[in-house]
This record gives sequence, structure tokens and C-alpha cells, in this order.
Amino acid sequence: MLIKTCRDGFHHPVSSEITARDVYQGRRDLVKLMAGGLAGAAMASWASRAALAQSATPRPGKLAPLPGVRSSLTGAVTMERLTDYKDVSSYNNFYEFGTDKSDPAQNAHTLKTSPWTVEIEGLIKKPAKYTLEDLLKLSAQEERIYRLRCVEGWSMVIPWVGYSLSELIKKVEPLGNAKYVEFVTLADPKTMPFVGSRVLAWPYVEGLRLDEAMHPLTLLTFGMYGEVLPNQSGAPVRLVVPWKYGFKSGKSLVKIRFTDKQPATAWNKAAANEYGFFSNVNPNVDHPRWSQATERRIGEDGLFAKKRKTLMFNGYEAQVGQLYAGMDLKKFF
Ligand code: MTE
Repeated sequence: MLIKTCRDGFHHPVSSEITARDVYQGRRDLVKLMAGGLAGAAMASWASRAALAQSATPRPGKLAPLPGVRSSLTGAVTMERLTDYKDVSSYNNFYEFGTDKSDPAQNAHTLKTSPWTVEIEGLIKKPAKYTLEDLLKLSAQEERIYRLRCVEGWSMVIPWVGYSLSELIKKVEPLGNAKYVEFVTLADPKTMPFVGSRVLAWPYVEGLRLDEAMHPLTLLTFGMYGEVLPNQSGAPVRLVVPWKYGFKSGKSLVKIRFTDKQPATAWNKAAANEYGFFSNVNPNVDHPRWSQATERRIGEDGLFAKKRKTLMFNGYEAQVGQLYAGMDLKKFF
């Protein structure tokens, strides 16, 4: 992003395996078999078994468990090794708590996640205020293993827990003229020390086209690794849009608004030439200040670790490519 930390080198210990060895080994064999890494929508039964095994990922065990979670076999599963919980929860972007990667983990304990409501408004038949409890009850939670690729050039593989945002959207019944969805996140200067700083316009706002928001991969997310989200990861509810750069995935959502105009988003307002509205992961369109062709997987950044090639739409091209048919992705970056 605009901040220098994004491109600075950083040092992570090579992480130990979080997944049980037999599960991990099984997955490695599958990786060889699949020779590509990403399971498509029509997963073979052996891949399904592996995905189910992966849902047995040990919880770190500090936060409340999210019960009744089933593993998703919707083609949203990668066969790659999960990033360590320790890394996922200590290397964050959440500018409301500071701009260094370590700031959110240090500072976000002040975030008050209960009671919590999310207002759904705008061009819909059924505007309503949902409590977190209402949202949790609205649909069955699934574990979805998604890559998160940050615009800064690093990535992680995370077992998120939630359900498709489309479940909620269907309930509120968008009107015919609703074309976009705006996501507004909490901006509380009392509990968020960097709200008010000039780095971004607050609240942090993101947006999607309605068809993107309706896509089954777009996850309304309540947890990760089988537990509720830690504060620094966007508790108690965030978005995860796996084919877009990480900044599209707004944290600590308080409002979802349906509109007929493209929402003005926080990063686009800050630097329109660097952060477009679409922000689909695209190795062929460089950021004006750096290449997007490769990425560093967090946990693999030892001295001899190779960078990985960034995949079109972060590896989800088969699922989402058709949303952009006929669009010039260099123009609509
Ligand atoms: N949401 C809010 N409210 N504030 C933020 O600063 N940062 C974004 C996104 N969501 C951000 C946010 C960016 S830049 C990224 S890369 C991801 O969150 C990071 O998510 P993670 O910390 O869970 O990896």
C-alpha cells in the first residue's frame, strides 16, 4: 500500500506445520497428483476426503470455538499448506490500529466486539439491523480454505469460517436498480487509536459489484481455524473476497449498503491510480510502483525460499473469470 512497510523485507521464522502430519502428507500427495494446486468445482472423491480431513485443522484453542462448522467442497479449497495461525494473527493490515504489521495484534484488544450490529440498508426490500447473533444463525457456517493475496506482494492460506454473503443478500432482496454493495467498517476513535490519522479517510469503506458480492466464493466471515476471529483479523465479522487483493476484504463490518453507484472506497480515495475499484489479483497488471507477477508466501520466507508466481484471479479464474468477460482488465484494474 502507500506505506513503506509493504515493500520492506521482513523476517519470519520458518513455521512449523500446523496440520497433523498425516493430513499434511496426504495433501502433499494430492498436490503432486493435481500438479496445479487448486481443486476445481468438480473435485474427485479423494480430493473431497482430503478437504474434509483438512477441516480437522487443530484450533489454536484460545478463542471461542465456532461450533457446527462443516467443510466446504465448493471448489474453494486449496491443497496448499495452511499458513501458521501465529503468522496469520500477528502479521496484519488493520490501519485503525496502526500501520505496522505488528500493530493490530498489539493494539486491537481494545476493540469491543459485543454487542455488535450490522445495518443492511439502501436499495433493498428488507432493510434491517442484524445483531451478530442474528447473522450467525442466518446460515450454516462452513470452513473455506482460501488464499489471501495482499496487494503488497505477500500471501497466506487460511481456513476461514463463514457462509456465502449471497445467503444474506437473498434475505434482504435487492431492488432492480441495486448494482453495487458498499461495506462500511467500524470507525470508533475511542477504541481504535489510528482512526483520525490522515493515512486514510475513515471509516474504511470497500465495495463490490452486486454480482461479485453474490458470487458464492465471497465469504461473510466470522472465524478462522475453527474459532471466532481474533480482533486483529476483523472480529466479529469481516468479508473475504479471495480473488481480489486483500484490501477489498473489509474488517469489522457495521454496515452493508446497496447502491446504484460505484462506492467510493478508502484506498481508491487515497490513491486512485494505485488502487482501482476492481482490484482483482492479476499478475499481468503491475502496481505502478512494483510488479504483481510474484508473491511471497508468509511462512516461506527463509533465505532460500523462492517467490511464488501469482495466479490470475489468485487461482480462482475458473470460478470467477466469467464475471469479467469482455472487460479490459488493464483499464478496470
Ligand atoms: N479492513 C479495515 N477495516 N481496515 C484495514 O486497514 N486492511 C485491508 C483488509 N481489510 C483493512 C481492512 C488490507 S490492506 C488487507 S491486506 C487485509 O484486510 C488484511 O487482512 P489480514 O490482516 O487478516 O491478513
